[in-house]
Amino acid sequence: MVRQIRLNAFFMNCVVHQSPGLWRHPRDRTQDYTDISYWVDLARTLERGRFDALFLADVLGVYDVYCGGAEAALRGAVQVPVNDPVLLVPVLAYATRHLGFGVTSILSYDQPYAFARRMSTLDHLTKGRVGWNVVTGYLDSAARAAGRSRQDGHDLRYEIADDYMEAVYKLWEGSWEDGAVIRDREAGVFADPARVHRIRHEGRHFQLDGYHLSEPSPQRTPVLFQAGSSPRGRAFAARHAECVFIAGNSTAEIRRLVGEIRERAAAAGRDPQAITVFLSAVCVPGRTRGEAQDKLADYRRYGSVEGSLVLQSGWQGVDFAAAPLDTPIAALGRGSVEAHDRSDRPPDRRTIRELGEAATLGGGAPLLTGSAADVADEMQRWVEEADIDGFNLTSVVAPESYVDFVDIVVPELQRRGVHKQDYRAGTLREKLGGEARLPPSHPGARHRAG
Ligand SMILES: Cc1cc2nc3c(=O)[nH]c(=O)nc-3n(C[C@H](O)[C@H](O)[C@H](O)COP(=O)(O)O)c2cc1C
Repeated sequence: MVRQIRLNAFFMNCVVHQSPGLWRHPRDRTQDYTDISYWVDLARTLERGRFDALFLADVLGVYDVYCGGAEAALRGAVQVPVNDPVLLVPVLAYATRHLGFGVTSILSYDQPYAFARRMSTLDHLTKGRVGWNVVTGYLDSAARAAGRSRQDGHDLRYEIADDYMEAVYKLWEGSWEDGAVIRDREAGVFADPARVHRIRHEGRHFQLDGYHLSEPSPQRTPVLFQAGSSPRGRAFAARHAECVFIAGNSTAEIRRLVGEIRERAAAAGRDPQAITVFLSAVCVPGRTRGEAQDKLADYRRYGSVEGSLVLQSGWQGVDFAAAPLDTPIAALGRGSVEAHDRSDRPPDRRTIRELGEAATLGGGAPLLTGSAADVADEMQRWVEEADIDGFNLTSVVAPESYVDFVDIVVPELQRRGVHKQDYRAGTLREKLGGEARLPPSHPGARHRAG
């Protein structure tokens, strides 16, 4: 059977997500991010193209590592201003029938009890189409804004996140038994108190004693996404993630990472093939190869090297303004914060300028460009060679990047039988090939009551 390619749009509730400078392009509409109709149009475009989900990134804090301040980020709208992604979801669910929503929510500044209810509410309102991208944040500026001097260390953040997950699993899976909600009008009993359990969690980092406030939602635990690639991040993914989001440009390297995540998941008693791996990518397609080349050349004129270095400085915890642009990156040493995608990589031989230039379109993600056939070939090559399941497609000019992809590339993928003609019924987890609820081998399912 031909392997189906999974597709998410990788986007953010802000002006510049991964393509700094491109907001200046005359056709770019990202400045409309405060307008709900812009989001509804985008969601409907994605559903027309049978995307699995709109994956909404989020960050707390500002990118103030570059030049030791937030000025460059503010000047270039680099992930600031940024609005809350969660609040978009109910409206977009109302405007669509099948599209899923992968919402990034940073657990470091949000207690499990209130957060669990927020996700259950979203799961109800979307009829089970919600996913959660579990992140702990990577900017010290967020910690300072929350009254701390700096964020916890890298591995400690994952340890805290493990404890957080146990607490929310208990609330989602263990508080209300199936069948606890009776709705018996005659007897005047809405819920059977004997089947609603008080959750007690005594973790190292979180303690709670209370009932989950929401009645059971279609998926209970939302579909879990995770995007860490360090050794500790991979261990976390192997335990919790149902969808793993990965970044990088080398097929061999990605294959190695994917292999390790699947192996670790198998060692933890989970089905390794049930983990859906998405690669971050950016696509500039054309009706012909020449049209794609012209479009790409036009886009490149708007890229901002400074904006790109603002992002890289924040991700890697290294101030790339601290040395002249022609300095090799290796000369700067590694920062205290692990990089997005280079945790285990050898020091980069490129100069700062080259790093900045390479990352202006789609944050340096693999570029899929050319005719529909070229792009489809490249996508199929990645899937086969790197053992990934699909792509989180970031945009260059929005919503143009998604409209082009849907109009130009999707028909070719469908013709090849590697992209669905229609959606499966059911929740996001079912649409991704699973059951409505967590599989029994998932650690969250152990907390099921009744
Ligand atoms: C493709 C990709 C997308 C990410 N998106 C977000 C995000 O939206 N918000 C966030 O706080 N962290 C995001 N992260 C950061 C990760 O959650 C993680 O903190 C980071 O990769 C460092 O973890 P690691 O050292 O285990 O790789 C993303 C990482 C990758 C690779």
